[in-house]
Amino acid sequence: MPKRKRRMHLGVFWLGTGNHSAGWRMDGAFDSHCSWPIAEAGIRIAERGLFDLFFISDSLAPSLTDHPSFITRFEPMTLAAALSVATRHIGIGATVSTSFAEPYNVARMFQSLNHLSQGRIAWNVVTSTADHAALNFSRDVHYTHDKRYEIATEFVDIVQGLWNTWDEGATVRDRKTGQFVDPAKVHTLDHKGPHFSVRGPLNIERPPFGNPLVIQAGGSVPGQELSARTADIVFAVVNGDMVGAKAAYDGLKARTAKFDRKPSDLALMPGIMPIIGRTDAEAKDQLDRLQGYLSDASTMALVANRIGHDISGYPLDGPIPDFPLTDKSQTFSQTLLAKARRDKLTLRDLYNLTAAARGHWVVSGTPAKIADTLEEWFTAGTADGFMILPPYFPQSFDVFVDTVVPELQRRGLFRKEYESSTLRGHLQS
Ligand SMILES: Cc1cc2nc3c(=O)[nH]c(=O)nc-3n(C[C@H](O)[C@H](O)[C@H](O)COP(=O)(O)O)c2cc1C
Repeated sequence: MPKRKRRMHLGVFWLGTGNHSAGWRMDGAFDSHCSWPIAEAGIRIAERGLFDLFFISDSLAPSLTDHPSFITRFEPMTLAAALSVATRHIGIGATVSTSFAEPYNVARMFQSLNHLSQGRIAWNVVTSTADHAALNFSRDVHYTHDKRYEIATEFVDIVQGLWNTWDEGATVRDRKTGQFVDPAKVHTLDHKGPHFSVRGPLNIERPPFGNPLVIQAGGSVPGQELSARTADIVFAVVNGDMVGAKAAYDGLKARTAKFDRKPSDLALMPGIMPIIGRTDAEAKDQLDRLQGYLSDASTMALVANRIGHDISGYPLDGPIPDFPLTDKSQTFSQTLLAKARRDKLTLRDLYNLTAAARGHWVVSGTPAKIADTLEEWFTAGTADGFMILPPYFPQSFDVFVDTVVPELQRRGLFRKEYESSTLRGHLQS
């Protein structure tokens, strides 16, 4: 049989008020990240579009000048549980930070959700960048960047280890003999490390469809190590520079060998905000309208958060200062600053760019043009798929599903129906 064309994977970054900070102000747009009817409507569009993944981000302390979806939001695991029974096929990624949790609880929650969703759950592992989150967890200061990753690495090893404390077929349930469980197939973990001590086993059996999946997004060197070691999906940040993105893609895939894994064990999906119009001019108008709704205070806070430095003391029309490496998210900071240097941006340009997609790449134009970009990146071996960040919901996501998805299908680049009912199955098909 001829080998089928390689197909891309699609995820959607769910934010009820839209990925653009001002998306909720568009006519008829959803305006809440804490509403069940809105969340349910969002995942239904994604499932109609045959998406692999519905991605739920998180933060652990609100700042009232932040993106509206970061001010009031559902707790991700609770939302994921509700969404998993409202859907049948789509995978659901939920964020939990390794800086403010216990591995045993996290292993349990995800394995529970894995059973409930019948194999459709993934854990987005994050280390949390907001300093003020520490104040909600009986600590005065947050850990430093590299310490956060050191903890995260031990944490994920324990969680995956706990999932593996049960072999397949450990629950025998033999009515005749009265044997419920085979003790030879359930193991302790006996982990004793610098940050955690966990005996195990977990008190949840391994389901027939395998363990939950892991998503990782941090792109600093320790972030890449964590991805290569543990992740099934990597949510990458790109800025339109295909040469740089290809080098990062190849570098991450090559890094898997160090952990006895294969490059194909990990799907790399860069984030893209599509601004779609019937013409390029219509798409540009839409972006201008969104940008026109922004307020200075919230944008300044967003830029400071993304590049990890306060920019309020610098002239907006001047060049971008040489900031040192941040202790917050190096991924966003370095991607944005690299673009600024490459395109010789002023601080104001950087401000506008960050305001639009929070540091992700904005691609604007007709559905065919968006499909061209996705195809080009995918076939060049720069991506295994994409995390789509619609600027607002439901309209701009509906438009993506109704125009770009059929175009990708016509080109043989995306599935025409679900061929599996598990997230792992989607990634393999
Ligand atoms: C695309 C992307 C999405 C992320 N989503 C979240 C999130 O939802 N919640 C969170 O606390 N951190 C999130 N993070 C933070 C990372 O998980 C990581 O902890 C942080 O970026 C610091 O690592 P870095 O220096 O490797 O970027 C995200 C980072 C990226 C790049």
